Amino acid sequence: MKFFVDTADVAEIRELNALGLLDGVTTNPSLIMKSGRDIMEVTKEICSIVEGPVSAEVTALDYDEMLKEAAVLTKIADNICVKLPLTLDGLKACKALTADGVKTNVTLCFSANQALLAAKAGATFISPFIGRLDDIHINGMDLIGEIRTIYDNYGFQTEILAASIRTVNHVKEAALIGADVATIPPATLKALVKHPLTDKGLEGFLADWAKTGQKIGG
Ligand code: E4P
Repeated sequence: MKFFVDTADVAEIRELNALGLLDGVTTNPSLIMKSGRDIMEVTKEICSIVEGPVSAEVTALDYDEMLKEAAVLTKIADNICVKLPLTLDGLKACKALTADGVKTNVTLCFSANQALLAAKAGATFISPFIGRLDDIHINGMDLIGEIRTIYDNYGFQTEILAASIRTVNHVKEAALIGADVATIPPATLKALVKHPLTDKGLEGFLADWAKTGQKIGG
């Protein structure tokens, strides 16, 4: 499973990338707003940090304008992945960009039929939003499972990018169901390493080691 980080916070991206944990980054207009930075400037910096795809979202609603924005975004760096909304114009733009060899991420997916359309439009990634479905009392993980089945039935190459992840359990469940990628907020990604028995075990080993008076390497 690939790990993307869902943020436009450059400091967080640098830290996680240095740990060797990052396969890519996703941003959206809200995350750019939160960063307080210019979209072109911050996206360029992110693209210089990570090798994998960096999703940058168009904000136009009609096809022609989406393509104009995509042309601007793809000039930022080779690893830009154009993020498009799950609308008819977004799907049309996805088809055109895919034909031009541009990586695409179709976002705001809340149903299996929407995911089917994105795959037919040739999307590189489909982003089903787990947390936002859970928020309205619909099991977001069921959607990941449905999309997995449909894509496997027809051999679609579009990668399932589990998005709107809120908890470490979301990551585990998405991995069990077969999502190809999870885009995870920085704090949740770091929390994956935590287990109280790991902390307790380490404490015990270090206490016993101190009693030996030894030092590795001298
Ligand atoms: C996906 O690419 C989105 O940026 C993101 O996962 C949305 O998550 P949210 O529902 O927590 O805003």
